[in-house]
Amino acid sequence: MLHLILLLSGICKVAMAMPLPHFYSYSLAVGDGSGTEYSTAHVGRITGIRVWEYSNAHIGGIQLRYDRDWTEVIGANYGTLMEMTLLENESIIQVSGKYDNGYIYEVMFVTNHGRSFKVGQPSGTSFNFYPTHDGSELRFLSVRQNGNGITSIGTHWAVYYTSANNVMALGSPSSALP
Ligand SMILES: *[C@@H]1O[C@H](CO)[C@@H](O)[C@H](O)[C@H]1NC(C)=O
Repeated sequence: MLHLILLLSGICKVAMAMPLPHFYSYSLAVGDGSGTEYSTAHVGRITGIRVWEYSNAHIGGIQLRYDRDWTEVIGANYGTLMEMTLLENESIIQVSGKYDNGYIYEVMFVTNHGRSFKVGQPSGTSFNFYPTHDGSELRFLSVRQNGNGITSIGTHWAVYYTSANNVMALGSPSSALP
């Protein structure tokens, strides 16, 4: 029994000493969340956002671009389309907005370059999502839609490792390169 306890405490120490993988954190979804849940998770880094809004009403649809690929539209791709394209090395470090009456009414994306992209109406209750760890960025969204629009939104944050910063993260000296 004592051996088991020692073994378990040893495992716990090892686990605690290891860094969290990619400094992942999740901002719990807001909104009533009727309909079907979708994830925008995709290979690559987020490079663009499209949001469809209904005039004086809720958010209809959302679509993200990773590297050169637009993911599927979540929700309804009619209403008014607004689009933001990120610059090189620009990433999303805050997602805010408002939800009301079963739908997301307003959504705002803020980047590490200090730019922001805001769509929708200031109606209902506010939400503000940030990554827990410095250096983390938006990796993907969890979104629910019911055919008429977006009913809930949650955000997943992590550090994005490029081939350049991954070398440093692993501690490999650059002398390993030719
Ligand atoms: C983007 O980041 C990479 C890797 O850190 C760097 O080599 C490159 O110069 C950066 N580009 C710009 C425009 O800052």
